[in-house]
Amino acid sequence: MTHTRLLSLAALMLLPGFAAAQPKPDSANYLLPDESKMTPFKDRVPILFVTMNQPEWKTLNSYWNEGTQETIDPTTGQKITQKVVKIKVPLGLTQAPPVPPENPMTVEKWVLGKRLYYDNILSTDNTVSCASCHSPNRGFSDGKRTSTGINSAIGPINSPTIFNAAYNRFQFWDGRAASLEEQAQGPVGNDKEMFAGKGDPWEEAIARIRANPSYVQAFYRVFGHAPTRDAAAKAIATYERTILLGNSLDDKANALMRQRVIEEESGKFVLKAEDYAKALKAEFAAKSSVLKDLGLDAEKDAGKIDEYAKRILAGRELFFGKARCSNCHTGDTFTDHSFHNLGVGAKDGELPPSEFGRFAALPPGHKDPSMIGAFKTPGTRGLLWTAPYLHSGEEKTLEAVVEFYDRGGNVNPWLSEKMRDTEAEAAYIRARAQGQPVDPNVKTYGPAKRPIIPLKLNLTAQEKADLVLYLKALNGDPLDPIVTDPNKFPAP
Ligand code: HEC
Ligand code: HEC
Repeated sequence: MTHTRLLSLAALMLLPGFAAAQPKPDSANYLLPDESKMTPFKDRVPILFVTMNQPEWKTLNSYWNEGTQETIDPTTGQKITQKVVKIKVPLGLTQAPPVPPENPMTVEKWVLGKRLYYDNILSTDNTVSCASCHSPNRGFSDGKRTSTGINSAIGPINSPTIFNAAYNRFQFWDGRAASLEEQAQGPVGNDKEMFAGKGDPWEEAIARIRANPSYVQAFYRVFGHAPTRDAAAKAIATYERTILLGNSLDDKANALMRQRVIEEESGKFVLKAEDYAKALKAEFAAKSSVLKDLGLDAEKDAGKIDEYAKRILAGRELFFGKARCSNCHTGDTFTDHSFHNLGVGAKDGELPPSEFGRFAALPPGHKDPSMIGAFKTPGTRGLLWTAPYLHSGEEKTLEAVVEFYDRGGNVNPWLSEKMRDTEAEAAYIRARAQGQPVDPNVKTYGPAKRPIIPLKLNLTAQEKADLVLYLKALNGDPLDPIVTDPNKFPAP
């Protein structure tokens, strides 16, 4: 191409209305907004998050709080008082969920997203919604080993919970989506989840939504244009960002501990059994559902408070110590946002390529063999509602998950170093080099016959029970009905 032709092409691209810059008016993917069709700025209600570290947090009485804020209306330049909704981020979640700048949260957008989330309209034959596999009645999961989608198609993998997905650095077990907005576009085109048509799944879904005048009106108000894939994904993500789970017995004990340490002026921010006892006492006074989570009877078991407080503390110490759970389950939502091979899906020491997990999702140029068979660390809040467990859904109980870790996961060539007894492996290699006898049960891999020896935790029966009890103490209070009741919407 000559210089002059390049220049004239560049000039053409600068012209307003250059074809490539403007989406077709009927595009199902995205459209540009017509501001005159949108809810005027002064009537938009932003959603704000208030976290436990902000002084205002203590003054909020419920999850969803209506208030006002002073702001400048950019369309008129006038100072105005705008309605806002303040979400009281549950105890234990110290940060507000990150919100992408291109998708600010408003109540209208949230309402639209919530409607879409519970509506079968996104599936070809109007039988499946997001809630089919992520139901508020089942911990925003589906209670199945692997999901069942359109035409009763059985999917290959366990449905993860949406609890705190707002905080995930990666979405999906293999992390192939970077945001909730990106993730929300997946199921509509998936022939085991929501799609059973012939053409383009999103074009078909958007055509169904555009045939519904009430949806069309709602999209115009929020986005200033007809329904699109871009806008639907943004609205759904906005709803998902409010599915927050915290407020566990562990969080409450932590808060009581901080208060105690400040009063004692000891400066030692370390949990004691008395902190759990105090938290438990309050649960008995409130006859809360947390007691049932722990296997306690609200009427009869008040005498067990001290015993349970000691056991939960012991479980916590195992989680952060001998059992090494916090090597990966760390932070407010108990995940390192990383991927590890625990050998889930391995059979007889081998891992089929269908179980390559993160490695398979990495694009060329980024393939990392240590990611073979690695899956995302899920959070450990709300576990009592989200069985069965692991990406395969193969473990039905928390006791079974703890047994899985106690034996060091499943041996395979790429078992995470964090799951291995590297000292025993080195001793094995030395012994073999010196011609000494070695354990014939140890599996070895590759030309170098590298031994893989899973790290056994050697937990006692009591320790296993205490660790499970601690996991139950992480479960949390049920969410507010504004989030979990599909028919509940804020007053207009
Ligand atoms: C047929 C069942 C099914 C339907 C319908 C479905 N999902 Fe999922 N969802 C899954 C499964 C299974 C996964 C895990 C897939 C994977 O990791 O490969 C998943 C993953 C997710 C994740 C990632 C969570 C995480 O921690 O990685 C989010 C968020 C999510 N779905 C939201 C939605 C939304 C929003 C919709 C509706 C547009 C939806 N899902 C529809 C089954 C379903
Ligand atoms: C090396 C990192 C690592 C360590 C250590 C670890 N986990 Fe995990 N955990 C993971 C990963 C990764 C998964 C998902 C694995 C999969 O499905 O392939 C997982 C899954 C789980 C699940 C299932 C959650 C769900 O929603 O399905 C539970 C429960 C759990 N871990 C608890 C524990 C406990 C208890 C410990 C300590 C005994 C522990 N983890 C130690 C990384 C780890």
